[in-house]
Amino acid sequence: MPDHARPGRVLRAPEGFIPASLQQQITRHGLDDARRAFLRRSFAGATAAAVAAAGLARGAHAAGNTEAAATPGEGDPAILTPQPWATSLGQPVAARPYGQPSQYEQNLVRRESPGLTRVAAASVAFAPLQGLFGIITPNGLHFERHHQGWQDIDPARHRLMVNGLVREARVYTMDALMRLPAVSRIHFIECGANTGMEWGNVAVPTMQYTHGMLSCCEFTGVPLKVLLEDAGADLRRGRYLLAEGGDGSSMTRTIPMELADEILVAWGMNGEMLRPENGYPLRLVVPGVQGVSWVKWLRRLKLGDQPWNTKDETVHYVDMMPDGMQRQYTSIQECKSVITTPSGGQVLVGRGFYNVSGLAWSGRGRIRRVDVSTDGGRNWRTARLETPVLSKCLTRFNLDWVWDGGPAILQSRAIDETGYVQPKMAQLRAVRGKRSIYHNNAIQSWQVAPGGEVSNVQVD
Ligand code: MTE
Repeated sequence: MPDHARPGRVLRAPEGFIPASLQQQITRHGLDDARRAFLRRSFAGATAAAVAAAGLARGAHAAGNTEAAATPGEGDPAILTPQPWATSLGQPVAARPYGQPSQYEQNLVRRESPGLTRVAAASVAFAPLQGLFGIITPNGLHFERHHQGWQDIDPARHRLMVNGLVREARVYTMDALMRLPAVSRIHFIECGANTGMEWGNVAVPTMQYTHGMLSCCEFTGVPLKVLLEDAGADLRRGRYLLAEGGDGSSMTRTIPMELADEILVAWGMNGEMLRPENGYPLRLVVPGVQGVSWVKWLRRLKLGDQPWNTKDETVHYVDMMPDGMQRQYTSIQECKSVITTPSGGQVLVGRGFYNVSGLAWSGRGRIRRVDVSTDGGRNWRTARLETPVLSKCLTRFNLDWVWDGGPAILQSRAIDETGYVQPKMAQLRAVRGKRSIYHNNAIQSWQVAPGGEVSNVQVD
């Protein structure tokens, strides 16, 4: 069978490769270098195991006896024999009043990066984007980032105040808000710190950790403009909005009013109420802007005439430039993309056809084009953009690829509707240096070894 007609198989990344005992050790001692060395060691072990499994699968394939193929001439018992699920009574309706994923999908969960933070209440759990399809992130897998833990707030006791440069300050109950004219919009949310560990060098093995502070949902809520109108906002003097969260972190963010047209005060997420981890019962949706401004458990919006310079705008969420100066208020998430499969930690089983699939997004509008390279950036082919292609939303791309079994470096490069081209790592470092945490939108490289192991690498 020619290579292009033989679909290859991708073994999943060993997401659960870090044993709990070592995770605790790392969390206790949590030094960066130790953590990196440890991740490399663990990853090498896990990859070896996956490769061994791939070897077995390949061996079995040669003998014509893999999970996918039957013994020649005998037929496949999995299709010829009546299976238990065909010969017994299934579960009744509403056995699970709130549906759960299959027991066979237990590996697909949000994960904390060991040693990244000292306290789990001020931490991040990364979304397993390498295992998802399309553009929507299921609510239970949306990444979470809290500065002081999450709360499950009683909606009957929650209030939103609108004050500052308004004719009359207002306080809304959830009930009152949810009676206002609502809209639904699909948008990505990306933490400014996404890919932040990779500024200096390769730090983490899988895309869950390199890019998993990213999710995309349909949000439902009332446009900010409706509330500002209701309170009689002075839009001539009111140039900035302060958004304040109701949790203990005193999360307060300044948002320029130029962004106001698209902002939602949202309670809905993929058709249901927000999850507590994501701000239930109310959060701000600021399309295209870094996640920190999407204030959760939203309790107050204040209109003012100058930026507030709050702690999360001066100490954190600023960019350390090469000259030692801090750049403030870099809020827009620039155009970026990543190949989700094949990606770090996965293993390609055998030469043949692979669907290279990934996600692209831009805080400035729609994705215009995504190019994919399989040779580390020497040659590029244009990927298919799958619909819908929406503004400030994840866009799924796919590209047919026949792997010849040799070494390869997979990269994707997104271009948005403004013409901005996602930079190479070296181009970004030339401007930003290596000491930043936030706003790393460089091209991601995944190296495919001749054995099929995929790993995170950085190439110029
Ligand atoms: N809002 C409040 N009140 N408290 C927080 O800790 N974290 C911010 C933002 N809003 C935060 C908050 C950060 S840093 C990010 S990236 C996003 O929420 C994460 O949203 P998510 O947890 O729904 O993914």
